[in-house]
Amino acid sequence: MTVTLRINGSICRFNGDPMTPLVNVLRHERFLTGTKAVCREGFCGACTVHVDGEAVMSCLRPVGLLEGASVTSIEAMSSGDGPLHPLQAAFEAADAVQCGMCFPGMVMSLSHFLRDHPDACRADVKAAMVGNICRCTGYERIIDAVMDVIAGVRAHG
Ligand code: FES
Ligand code: FES
Repeated sequence: MTVTLRINGSICRFNGDPMTPLVNVLRHERFLTGTKAVCREGFCGACTVHVDGEAVMSCLRPVGLLEGASVTSIEAMSSGDGPLHPLQAAFEAADAVQCGMCFPGMVMSLSHFLRDHPDACRADVKAAMVGNICRCTGYERIIDAVMDVIAGVRAHG
């Protein structure tokens, strides 16, 4: 089966098993290895990307369902040479990342959440992170980083 989708703005034509998980297409076909495959069962959130503007776990999304879809992965959140996404910068400033396996999925989930909840309180942020597991940090610095982003939006909004 051939599936045509857009990944980070570029057309991607996938030929193969339509049940191939999107995370495999990203990592193996496009070499976009920023998206992590950890549990592959929908529990950890490390594989989160945006599909047509919604945050989804790419390990659970068969590519055969994505004809015409627009996918955004962590690689598109900053250009590399350009500025970091505000969440990436805040995570770095708050020293909120250790091994980094959860980090791309956190950024993709939380950027989607903040788009719709720019005024979220700490409890809201905690609730929004329920689908993203971090084995290293204890979460508090991650939440601190997100609250810093929200404070910056408030200050400049
Ligand atoms: S790898 Fe997809 S949720 Fe864990
Ligand atoms: S920093 Fe290691 S899993 Fe989150």
